Amino acid sequence: MRVLSGIQPTGPFHWGNYFGAIRQYIELQEVATEAYYFIANLHALTTVRDAAKLQQYTLDGAIDLLALGLDPSRATLFVQSDVPEVSELCWLLMTGAPMGLLERCVSYKDKIAKGLKADAGLFTYPVLQAADILAYDADVVPVGEDQLQHIEVCRDIAQSFNHHFGQTFVMPKGKILDSSARVPGLDGEKMSKSYDNTLAVFADPKAQRKQIMRIVTDSRPMEDSKEPVGDVLYDLYALVATEDERDAMAALYRRGGFGYGEIKKALADAAERYFAPARERRAALAAEPQQLREILAAGAAKARVKAKATLKRAQQACGLSDW
Ligand code: ADP
Ligand code: TRP
Repeated sequence: MRVLSGIQPTGPFHWGNYFGAIRQYIELQEVATEAYYFIANLHALTTVRDAAKLQQYTLDGAIDLLALGLDPSRATLFVQSDVPEVSELCWLLMTGAPMGLLERCVSYKDKIAKGLKADAGLFTYPVLQAADILAYDADVVPVGEDQLQHIEVCRDIAQSFNHHFGQTFVMPKGKILDSSARVPGLDGEKMSKSYDNTLAVFADPKAQRKQIMRIVTDSRPMEDSKEPVGDVLYDLYALVATEDERDAMAALYRRGGFGYGEIKKALADAAERYFAPARERRAALAAEPQQLREILAAGAAKARVKAKATLKRAQQACGLSDW
């Protein structure tokens, strides 16, 4: 099983990104024969238009993944733009990507529906994603449910290329990440940087404690019991507490006789503890920028070998570069 996924560097990773995606990618590195993970900076360029920020988010994203347990000896970690063959492959795929297919993609459709102007980058975003996947002959692509449409587009494009030019690309399958890991934000809505309701994975613990203490709760009387599941504080706590702590907290909710202040404190404590080892690893990595550069350079070199071979195969199949 060759696993591949990309994550956009559009800001600091939050708990939704970690529990909903990153943690599961990292678990997959243990079972995959080969795993490729990259920071999708070319995709992020469709939204981040500040050079310093994009560069910062890209390097931070790589450090974060390593700190959270991505092991470069098991998985190939690289930055998308360090493999230019993918952009070249993207053009080949673009020539066979039906307009109608791309017009139906929600990221583009939603923007148009809101009356906003879209650019060609956003319109062809799924084709670049298809090139990402096909370049490495990935067969399993773990993604959140929101990305499933893009995997379908990738399959359509690959199928049509294979049909016209002969068997060239491996057909990938999407692997939907556990949707029960849908993390609520501070306001109870889905946690997302677009809603400004996030808890950053590597926030300063003191600042994060303040954020947690400010979470708005209902006006339930202290003595009343409450169903824990579905309550923002409990749901967040359940992610970072041990199993015993979680069970004890659920029992406390059902029994009643507690104030939200003590739950918030327990949540802040558990969060600080949960991410402490990763925070330490992150500090060590950030202090060694040369080491990070070496990891990314080695990852890109390995990824390029694979992407080059696939590009060559595709070029030969469609009548380019065979002399
Ligand atoms: P955002 O909504 O903050 O812009 P992204 O779309 O960049 O986040 O998220 C990247 C991936 O992280 C998604 O494909 C999804 O798998 C996961 N993810 C993001 N937010 C959540 C959440 N609240 N719960 C679970 N998974 C999430
Ligand atoms: N579009 C994906 C997201 O926003 C990121 C991404 C880019 C990706 N290329 C990919 C995911 C290839 C899986 C495979 O989350």
